[in-house]
Amino acid sequence: MNIGIIGCGNISDTYFNSQQIFNNINIIGCSDILEGLADSKAEKYQIKSYSVEGLLKNKDIDIILNLTIPNVHKDVTIKSLENGKHCFSEKPLAINFKDGLEIQKISQEKNLIVGCAPDTFLGAAGQKARSIIENQEIGKIVLGTFNIMSHGMEDWHPNPDFFFKPGAGPVFDLGVYYLTQLINLNGPIKSVQSISGTALKERTITSKPRFGEKIIVETPTSLLGTLNFQNESKIQFFCSWDIWKHTHTNMELYGLEGSMIIPDPNFFSGDILLSNKDSEWNIIKNDDMLLGTPNTIDNNGSKIANYRGIGLSDMIDSILRNQKPRCSIDLSIHVLETMEAIIKSAETNHQIILKTKPEKPQYFNETDISKLKF
Ligand SMILES: NC(=O)c1ccc[n+]([C@@H]2O[C@H](COP(=O)([O-])OP(=O)(O)OC[C@H]3O[C@@H](n4cnc5c(N)ncnc54)[C@H](O)[C@@H]3O)[C@@H](O)[C@H]2O)c1
Repeated sequence: MNIGIIGCGNISDTYFNSQQIFNNINIIGCSDILEGLADSKAEKYQIKSYSVEGLLKNKDIDIILNLTIPNVHKDVTIKSLENGKHCFSEKPLAINFKDGLEIQKISQEKNLIVGCAPDTFLGAAGQKARSIIENQEIGKIVLGTFNIMSHGMEDWHPNPDFFFKPGAGPVFDLGVYYLTQLINLNGPIKSVQSISGTALKERTITSKPRFGEKIIVETPTSLLGTLNFQNESKIQFFCSWDIWKHTHTNMELYGLEGSMIIPDPNFFSGDILLSNKDSEWNIIKNDDMLLGTPNTIDNNGSKIANYRGIGLSDMIDSILRNQKPRCSIDLSIHVLETMEAIIKSAETNHQIILKTKPEKPQYFNETDISKLKF
């Protein structure tokens, strides 16, 4: 299947490079509203650049890879479907639940597949943690926490405005990884209760090239609350871009038989800590698994595993085998409904009961992964 990219910004190189990792990702064209940008990526990766309209009309393209900014995702995904193409979108699926449902309806009417990032939960840490839970090593999960705490994005991204607009903020931008991982591990969420705050109404960009420019903040930068899962477990969350330093872990799950500490779900691997009742922590490594082996160097010079693109690769394979992709629209709509509920619960001071209830995505074993990897 041939892929065309819409949106040639910061994340696009990761997807172009995923063609070297997965054997079924074949990008043949790219476009951006900034045509010069699409031209330079096309030249770098020796493909053709198109206008957005030209790419959508191209008969050789089967799948649109939507790498635009969040408030454009819905429009580009729906245009892909209207032009007879499947679509894999970067997260979030859309900036509100209603738009997500509209995408789902059109995808069903057209009999075309929509998949959505994040795909990091398919990584070694996510799948290893899932097998530990399903082997009952910590027993029935009853409680948990997750924490996203930093001072924001305006110090590294060249165009950080979208992080502070509706459709981003710490829940929509990063919480999306944590919520997707939690649904992978613990099943769907039943209800949400939260409070929010915004420490600064205006942020100053300290990255280049827009150093010193101001961004008006239009979405809360701190959200705290509780998720009540369908299995009756309660998970407390703290998502904030108003914090310089802290000592919390990313994610912890507490079961009747033990506890587990799970690494940052924005990454594909990382040590899991496991304890049976009150025993010492046992370190569970996963960097020898197919989607955990370090394959790149991060900005700090550390070797890390980055297998972004596996969700797209799995979706292509699923289309060919007439199966449901793991990064399915049902999963991403549930995550979207949860994220919107977190914002709305804080605005209205009410608990919000969720309507969607997807199944857990299918476990990804090493045999199935090996079929997609070079
Ligand atoms: N940058 C990252 O590390 C990262 C990581 C994971 C996910 N993401 C997600 O990927 C998406 C893109 O992020 P990014 O960092 O690459 O942003 P970016 O701003 O660098 O790139 C987005 C590109 O989309 C283009 N664009 C905007 N509207 C368009 C339209 N209507 N038609 C065609 N092109 C359009 C812009 O010109 C820009 O080049 C976001 O949803 C983000 O949440 C980014």
